[in-house]
Order: sequence, then structure tokens, then C-alpha cells
Amino acid sequence: PKTKVTALPGDGIGPEVMAATIRILDAAGAPIEWEYAEAGAEAFKKGVITGVPRETLDSISTNKLALKSPLETPIGYGGKSANVTMRKFFELYANIRPVRELPGITTPFSGRGIDMVIVRENVEDVYAGIEHMQTTTVAQCLKLMTAPGCERIIRAAYGLAQAEERKGVTVATKANIMKLTEGMMKRMGEKVAAEFPDIKPGHIIIDNCAHQLVIKPEAFDVIVTSNMNGDIISDLAAGLVGGLGIAPSSNLGDHAAMFEAVHGSAPDIAGKGLANPTALLSASIMLLRHIAAFDVAEKVEQALFITLAEGKNLTGDLAPRGHGVGTAAFTDQVIANLGRS
Ligand code: NAI
Ligand code: MG
Repeated sequence: PKTKVTALPGDGIGPEVMAATIRILDAAGAPIEWEYAEAGAEAFKKGVITGVPRETLDSISTNKLALKSPLETPIGYGGKSANVTMRKFFELYANIRPVRELPGITTPFSGRGIDMVIVRENVEDVYAGIEHMQTTTVAQCLKLMTAPGCERIIRAAYGLAQAEERKGVTVATKANIMKLTEGMMKRMGEKVAAEFPDIKPGHIIIDNCAHQLVIKPEAFDVIVTSNMNGDIISDLAAGLVGGLGIAPSSNLGDHAAMFEAVHGSAPDIAGKGLANPTALLSASIMLLRHIAAFDVAEKVEQALFITLAEGKNLTGDLAPRGHGVGTAAFTDQVIANLGRS
């Protein structure tokens, strides 16, 4: 039986990387039936103020799963960010960012065995966007954290550690300074840890975490942290293994899960057939594992790794200058490598 998944082709290079990803998944025999839906620029231009039409929300509500391309943040038209609309509507409170070395992608950190997952709280903290001018010269922003909000993100981290048979969970906070908000996350970490005797609990102050991520990144396994801390260290960590251009992520809630690339709509190369689909493809591999299609996930991942390691058909962002191929040639090569090991 096939699982229905809402596919959001999105803006800029979105439709190109989505078509490439779906072509590879279909060729690999992924047990997925795609339901296409609109969000982002097109919706804004039709006057949908949230950037996400009702039919799209309905599709995701029903399927509970979405693969999403980048959506451009409106400037000069429409209203808010369609990304934020969906994150809030479906209460996608856990942003999961795996960070590990990919074959064929050389960085100053290559060969150290970096393999971690950053679990970022996605709806609370200063990103609740509650700020105001207290006087004409004093601005104030509320850092909002709740016990249930801390508890569910810590549980998401431990659940992930358990599912992936990882050894440790490190809670990263600024509890030494913000004893009530960040302290709540730290204490919740200690409380939940007691239920998972097989997983090694840890705590680290967030600035030292940033330092250790650069000094000894291979020492980290699962890191869980509040929204703003996570925003910063997840980008830092992605930089250790080749950058945002190849990084995937998932946004998980109790009622829906959305998988996406970390990069944006790349308007500078949109419509030219040059985009690298690796990040969205990697997100789709996370989706396959989420629906327990482990064999297909493995097959697609192998084909991607072989293609990257061979290095013959890489897109311009990864290839040596002047040697890049287009999205279609890269995609063809991944498909040709399906079933190889
Ligand atoms: P961007 O990630 O779109 O582009 C930054 C640079 O990376 C550009 O030079 C681009 O060509 C390159 N790049 C990005 N993805 C690539 C790919 N797959 N293959 C090859 N090259 C790639 O970041 P930027 O320019 O800041 O944002 C553009 C738009 O995307 C904005 O409207 C922004 O709001 C939106 N955005 C949406 C996100 C989402 O939907 N989750 C995330 C980030 C940005
Ligand atoms: Mg960010």
C-alpha cells in the first residue's frame, strides 16, 4: 500500500529540485503517492494572505506528511512567511537537523567522523515574536518558554536517540544566566533523562557548545536546545560538513511532519536547470525512514553517496569550477546508481 504525501514544489529552484527528487524516489520504487499542492509566491499573488491556501492545509492535515521545497519570503507583496504559517498551523515544534560527513564532500573537518543530530525547539523562545517598544528608546522582546514545550522537545530528542540507537543526548542551554527560561529546559532534561537509562544524558552551556562544535565536533551525538540557540548552532554545525546547500531537515509535530531542504529558493539560479537536489533528496530519505520504508531509504541513500563519491556528475555548487553538470544529469546519475552498493 502506498502512503500519500503532500508535495509542495514551492518557489525559485523549488519545482526543479522537487521534480528531480520525485523522479529518483519513483525510480527507486518508493511506496509513496504524491499529492501536489500550492504554497508560497503563487498563493500570495492570488491573494492568499497566509501564503498557504485552504486546500493545501487540508491536504497536509489529511496526509499528515509533506515534502516541501523552499518558499520565498514575500517582500513587497502578500503578508507573512508561508513557512511560519505552516509551522504554527501544524504546531511543528521539533526541527531536526542531522549533520554528518557525506562521501565526496571535502571540508577542513573531513575524516573526523562527524555524525550528530541537532534537535531545535521550533515554536517558543524569543521567536514567538512578542516584542514592543516600551518607550521610544527602549525595545522589549519576550522570551517565552513553557514546561510542556520544554518537555516535548526533550522527549523528541530522547525518542530520536532511541530510534536511531544513539548513545547520548546533550541539552544545550544558557541556564547559568536565564535561570527560569533556559533553566527550565535544563531541569526538564534531567527529569526526562531518568526514563531513558540506556542513553547517556549531558548538559552543556550553549557558548561552550559552539566552541566544542568547532574543536571536537565528533564528540556530539544528539543535541537538544531552545529555538534561538538551535537556529545558530544548527547552521554552524551544517557548515562543518559542507554547508547549508546540502543540509536536510524535518519539522515534526504530534499531528504532522514536514521534510525540507535547509536552503532557500536560490533566485539567482532558478529556472536554469542548475540546482543541486541533494538537500531535498536527503530530506526525502528522512521521510522514507519516517514512514518505515527503510529498504528504499537505504537504496536511495547509497545511490546518492556513490554519485557524490564518484564526483563525475556533480552540480556547479559542488564541482570544481567549470565542471558542473545540470540538475537533470546529476539526477540521471543517481538513478543509474540505484541498486549499486
Ligand atoms: P538561498 O539558500 O536561496 O541561496 C543562497 C546561495 O546558495 C545562492 O547563491 C544560491 O544559488 C545557492 N543555493 C541554494 N540552494 C542551492 C541548490 N540547491 N543548488 C545550488 N545552489 C544553491 O538563500 P537566500 O538567497 O538568502 O534566500 C532566497 C529566498 O529563499 C528568500 O526569499 C528566502 O526567504 C527564502 N528561504 C526559504 C527557506 C525555506 O523555504 N525553508 C529557507 C531559506 C530561505
Ligand atoms: Mg536559521
